[in-house]
Amino acid sequence: MVKENGAASTTASIHILDVPSSHTPSPSELSSEYTHPSIYKGHFSKVLIPHSQIQSRTKDLASLIHSHYPTSEPLVLLCILKGSGPFFHSLASALTILKHPYVTEFTRISSYVGASTQSSGEDITVAKVLEGRDLRGRHVLVVEDIVDTGNTLSKFLPIVKENGLASCEVCTLLTKRLESNGAESRGVVPKFSGFSVPDEFVVGYGLDYNEMYRDLEDIWIMSKKGIEFGGMDGFKKD
Ligand code: IMP
Ligand code: MG
Repeated sequence: MVKENGAASTTASIHILDVPSSHTPSPSELSSEYTHPSIYKGHFSKVLIPHSQIQSRTKDLASLIHSHYPTSEPLVLLCILKGSGPFFHSLASALTILKHPYVTEFTRISSYVGASTQSSGEDITVAKVLEGRDLRGRHVLVVEDIVDTGNTLSKFLPIVKENGLASCEVCTLLTKRLESNGAESRGVVPKFSGFSVPDEFVVGYGLDYNEMYRDLEDIWIMSKKGIEFGGMDGFKKD
């Protein structure tokens, strides 16, 4: 817990809900509850997390954050664009309802290039990440959509921490279960994490594949056909 005097302890990550890879919605659920634009037909294998579950888990996370941080000063919520946008908005709204004071900051970092489901690990633009922001002595909570290999955050967090913060933690909606590479080897342990998800490429609710599918309200697993379509490359205009 972060005490009123601002000293952060090193407690382990707060309990994560497991989403089994075998969760498949019934055809009736799929036809009525889960929808997407018709041009995405066949691009997904199944819904992984319905919108209602995302919303309820986000409220849980907001409660955990509310009890962890002091209310005597605004918490700095740092949104990593673009993928975290919808989650950030819901989390911030839930904190507003809890009357937890916060200020918002936005930055963009990227580790994927074009139509790829593999993090490049190399292409992280960090130079201008926090240009012009004075975060000295602040409690900063970095809000992410998904932690996969952890490459992005392990390059980004040291830069944020250079700013003399009171504390710097991560709240991510999703954490991927990596078969070959356990969470410990990531080097980044999010303090707050919504769901642990299987090691598959997921889209929706802000998460994209080559810039597509951020507009979906549920989180889906991509199908082979969807991957081959290539995201926005499938709509190339010459
Ligand atoms: P990492 O550096 O491998 O941890 O990847 C982190 C970033 O890659 C996330 O912030 C996402 O933007 C993106 N990412 C990782 N896995 C997925 C996925 O399954 N779907 C969409 N984006 C992903
Ligand atoms: Mg991201």
